[in-house]
Amino acid sequence: MTQTPPNTAARKILVTSALPYANSDLHLGHMLEQIQTDIWVRFQNLRGNDCLYFCADDAHGTAIMLKAEEKGISPEEHIANIKRDHEAVSAGFNIDFANFYSTHSEENRELSYLIYERLLANGHIASRKISQAYDPEKNLFLADRYIKGSCPKCKAEDQYGDNCEKCGATYSPMDLLNAKSTISGATPIAKDSEHFFFTLPAFSDFLKDWTRAGHLQDEVANKMAEWLDAGLQEWDISRDAPYFGFEIPGQPGKFFYVWLDAPIGYIASLKNYADKQGIDWMDYWKADSTTEVYHFIGKDIVNFHALFWPAMLHSAKLRTPTKICVHGFVTVNGTKMSKSRGTFINAKTYLEYLNPEYLRYYFAAKLTSNVDDIDLNLEDFIQRVNSDLVGKVVNIASRTAKFINNAGGALANEIADAELWQKFVDAGETIANYYESRDYSKAMREIMALADAANEYIATQEPWKLAKQAGAEAQTQAVCTLGINMFRAILTYLKPVLPALTADAEAFLGETLNWQAPVSFRAGTPINEFKPLLTRVEKDKVDAMLEATKEALAAAAPKAQGPLSDDPIAAEIEFNDFAKVDLRIALIANAEHVEGSDKLLRLTLDLGGETRNVFSGIKSAYDPKDLIGKLTVVVANLKPRKMKFGMSEGMVLAAGPGDKDIYLLEPHTGAKPGQRVM
Ligand code: 2FM
Ligand code: ZN
Repeated sequence: MTQTPPNTAARKILVTSALPYANSDLHLGHMLEQIQTDIWVRFQNLRGNDCLYFCADDAHGTAIMLKAEEKGISPEEHIANIKRDHEAVSAGFNIDFANFYSTHSEENRELSYLIYERLLANGHIASRKISQAYDPEKNLFLADRYIKGSCPKCKAEDQYGDNCEKCGATYSPMDLLNAKSTISGATPIAKDSEHFFFTLPAFSDFLKDWTRAGHLQDEVANKMAEWLDAGLQEWDISRDAPYFGFEIPGQPGKFFYVWLDAPIGYIASLKNYADKQGIDWMDYWKADSTTEVYHFIGKDIVNFHALFWPAMLHSAKLRTPTKICVHGFVTVNGTKMSKSRGTFINAKTYLEYLNPEYLRYYFAAKLTSNVDDIDLNLEDFIQRVNSDLVGKVVNIASRTAKFINNAGGALANEIADAELWQKFVDAGETIANYYESRDYSKAMREIMALADAANEYIATQEPWKLAKQAGAEAQTQAVCTLGINMFRAILTYLKPVLPALTADAEAFLGETLNWQAPVSFRAGTPINEFKPLLTRVEKDKVDAMLEATKEALAAAAPKAQGPLSDDPIAAEIEFNDFAKVDLRIALIANAEHVEGSDKLLRLTLDLGGETRNVFSGIKSAYDPKDLIGKLTVVVANLKPRKMKFGMSEGMVLAAGPGDKDIYLLEPHTGAKPGQRVM
């Protein structure tokens, strides 16, 4: 196998991940992206490239303005609080930003103006009046998600401004029946206002070429082709006051839409860093820059990054991205993260219970270069981390280090099995290529195959037996030295994924692991005493994290009122459990008071061929004569129960809290006694 020479011409690379909104906590979906990005950045630097990772909070927009208002603080104070929190969580997951900044910054204002002025000068900004829903109480134009009403087509209630979840109809928010502003409750009115547009259709040909020029994954390029073929629309880049953002130069009361200045925030984060470091941000962004720019994003924001953003940059005579790297969503145990299911896992909650390295490894073991969703299956997570990291990787060192430590601490001079060691050296290029193309799962598979080979070697050599044999000292040292070197190679390859574990391993090895050249065999030098490097994932901790997640979600959920909050829905059951209950239609052939009972009525039920005697605690709500001749539903296979007044052979179904509020179930007309209810 040929090996690429050590990296002499270091690449200059700028990398970003999507800017999280400054209105909510980071969750595991954010962490998938930051971890994916961080691994790539660490890999590039480990290989000797000059790679910087920039991010920021996406701090503008109506939602953030309203959130601050709800908290009774200024938007500036609100976004500062959130930023502190986001930074702490990312640091907790060992995300190594060169800079984490904010889109609400002077650098971003300056850059947004610069780009806007260029678009304007090039004739790529249009303006016209449009009519929009307006909240006359709050004095605010309403985005579709702030309007609710009944669907004009199927009349389903409580539907959002632009489409009906019940029947799928799409419509304009002004067509909603009985529409209400979700902010003030007022009925929206239609109001005209001047808006500014970026003339995206002018870039149709440019984008048709650009999206096919290797900047996108094939599946993403195909999606863009569909949109481009359908025809592009002008993009509305302005919003009316009140809005938290940047006022458009020369247009008082008009602000840039949050998505206009958000990606510019990538450059602003760089500029803020560059100004302090004495480097020129333009090196990265001028039209003929020789540096590389990579944006890591989720599949939901591809239109902004693969259409609007390159078109804006092209018009502004700045360089376009080298690559847009799109990933899928995180699912938990096979389904979308959900607040109601309690699987919407807050990143901070994860950190309270579990080691971030576990998740970094698990995501790496599942990430590919395509946009498929990544499932965090918690059983598999426990199993995979324990078996791969603890059982395979760390085990190599823990099985061999002590014999080196016991014999004075220095590694032997010879390579006990040169062929085996060569395998570890050769694997480096394959693994590096997988990292480069973001096929981390393949890289992890190669690395674990090496770990298997190492463990197999140790199991065959049995250093613990050798160590007891007189005259086998040198062999023991040679075997364990190879063991330690295989561990070094594996840790070198895992270093981008497991920065904390690697740092501890480096302290034990007394060296900084380096991957600018093929891994070299270390001989003769001393190592430090081995201490356990990683503990197993405990199921209790995973369960506790889920429990805490559920509690936090319940505490944050709007307090419901009514039957569901008084009596929450019971734990989920299997269909088979439900099917055990045999519910039948019954005709109430007779109903009468029970002597000596102030609660019960005696019902004689006709099940269509079989008669049952049932006592029911509904006396407070029903006059027996009103029940005779009515149909109801009975649990027909309930074990008969002996009561003070006789046998009760079933149970009728009723709702309500009790007393006068008891409501017996009654089927629609047409049901026949004896029919099964399913
Ligand atoms: O979707 C989001 O969470 C946005 N805040 C991402 C912005 S990415 C970039 F363009 F700023
Ligand atoms: Zn509908």
